[in-house]
Amino acid sequence: MPATMTNRRAPGLSGQEIDQLGVVKLIGNTPLVHMHRLSAHLGLPANIQLLLKAEWVNPGGSIKDRTALAIIRDAVDRGRLGHGQTLLDSTSGNTGIAYAMLGAALNLPVTLVVPASASDERKRTLAAYGANLVFSDPFEGSDGAIRLVREMVARVGDDVFFADQYNNPANVGAHVGSTGPEILRQSRGQITHFVAALGTTGTIIGAGSFLKQETGSQIIAVQPDEEFHGIEGLKHLPTAIVPGIFDPAVPDEIVGIGTEDAFAYARLLATTEGLFAGSSTGANVAATARLGASLAELGEPAVIVAIGCDGGSRYLTTGLWDR
Ligand SMILES: Cc1ncc(COP(=O)(O)O)c(C=O)c1O
Repeated sequence: MPATMTNRRAPGLSGQEIDQLGVVKLIGNTPLVHMHRLSAHLGLPANIQLLLKAEWVNPGGSIKDRTALAIIRDAVDRGRLGHGQTLLDSTSGNTGIAYAMLGAALNLPVTLVVPASASDERKRTLAAYGANLVFSDPFEGSDGAIRLVREMVARVGDDVFFADQYNNPANVGAHVGSTGPEILRQSRGQITHFVAALGTTGTIIGAGSFLKQETGSQIIAVQPDEEFHGIEGLKHLPTAIVPGIFDPAVPDEIVGIGTEDAFAYARLLATTEGLFAGSSTGANVAATARLGASLAELGEPAVIVAIGCDGGSRYLTTGLWDR
């Protein structure tokens, strides 16, 4: 176990100190862009608008910057995390990158349990920020990392701050407080459908509950269509450890997308729109295309907003871009 995990509690970090960081000022307020070209390629009528929230524009390259910031801010506000104290969590990669980025700026050691199967880009980025990495079984995916981090937490107790993104309400709060209101404002309240993939489920539960309440939008959750899949960061809920923050009342529908379809739509997004995003974004766009086609058949107008979770360059050494 890394030596940093035994650090004493060292308080003194303030919310103000976090807010003043340059890197924190870059988080959020990401663009919401039209996918006109993709829409035309799919043959959708003009009254079906497809929009993508470009979360890869965040400084850590994914939507999880919001999650990590909210979790760290909440822990600091509650006096549970201070200077020099180790933050520990399991992650499929993106939240880890965000923890590592913020930890570097805040002088917080960060220890992450990551599936050994995570892409090389993720592992190298984590190392660049100086995070300590512990690898879990590559065949057990994010659930293997969850099980291993729980074992570690049981051993080290309160010496570390266990961020627990799968069960931490601050994860949901990140999206109630930022992602949801941004989409409401940027779509001028016109959104009718919200599409987001299931990992920790923070995005769909936080932004989804906010948008449902404010606009009555339909909330569409996206998951891989089978247990063994290649869409990094996502969970197939029927066979996975269900996150404590998941609220089944929020999604109106849970759509299954196959790995090949997710990859195909990530490629289509790159070649039709010039938007270079990862495989979970491909899954969201595949679900959006399917939804757009069925609404067009019914003759119903729609403004569909999908989440663009992370960028395509995070997958250059995976099979995503092989043709
Ligand atoms: C690449 C990627 N896409 C989508 C998600 C899902 O987001 P959430 O955890 O908010 O459900 C994750 C979560 O880790 C992710 O890493």
